[in-house]
Amino acid sequence: MAFEGITLALSKGRIFEDTLPLLAAAGITPIDDPEKSRKLIIDTNRPDVRLVIVRASDTPTYVQYGAADLGIAGKDVLIEHGGAGLYQPLDLKIARCRMCVAVPRGFDYDAAVQRGARIRVATKYIQTARDHFAQKGVHVDLIKLYGSMELAPLVGLADAIVDLVSSGGTLRANNLVEVEEIMAISSRLVVNQASLKMKHALLQPVIDAFAGAVK
Ligand code: PRP
Repeated sequence: MAFEGITLALSKGRIFEDTLPLLAAAGITPIDDPEKSRKLIIDTNRPDVRLVIVRASDTPTYVQYGAADLGIAGKDVLIEHGGAGLYQPLDLKIARCRMCVAVPRGFDYDAAVQRGARIRVATKYIQTARDHFAQKGVHVDLIKLYGSMELAPLVGLADAIVDLVSSGGTLRANNLVEVEEIMAISSRLVVNQASLKMKHALLQPVIDAFAGAVK
């Protein structure tokens, strides 16, 4: 039988951890820890609320198609997804970091831009990178990667990367430097538009509790 309650999609790691206080504010406590259990559907203390654990970049897709009623996804992921079918009522201000352009220490990025050189950029964030460089009028060849972007300039795959930076530790460890901040990133609540109408009585109190808990 189909689940009649509400399903919240979120990813393991920082988003899950930073969401726990928001869930607590809504009176929701997960029964399992996705870091320990391999379960992908996690029940909560409330029989009418369950969590599903998805890959961060898949959260908007689950919510768009209504497989989850709501979800928590980074602005980075939402830009790449495009946001179709998603109501985005709240910036939850969690999992904060920034989207940056980084290059190997010693690569003169400004000079390359000024002389109109074509720059090879490796990134998981094709849409964000395309928009950023188009707006600046910089010619780039974008190379799509799925992770470990910091490696690309070290082995000659790219001149630069567009990636998320939090502590800056990964850049430093790989002798890269940040040359441009593209945007600040945080996670947003996304809600399926049909669910918002059909399950309004269940969803609205959760949205309100999250809103109240956002610092
Ligand atoms: C992110 C990002 C960087 C790193 C930045 O990767 O892609 O590699 O974190 O964090 P820092 O500035 O604190 O070092 P993540 O570990 O989330 O893995 P991913 O490559 O799967 O996105």
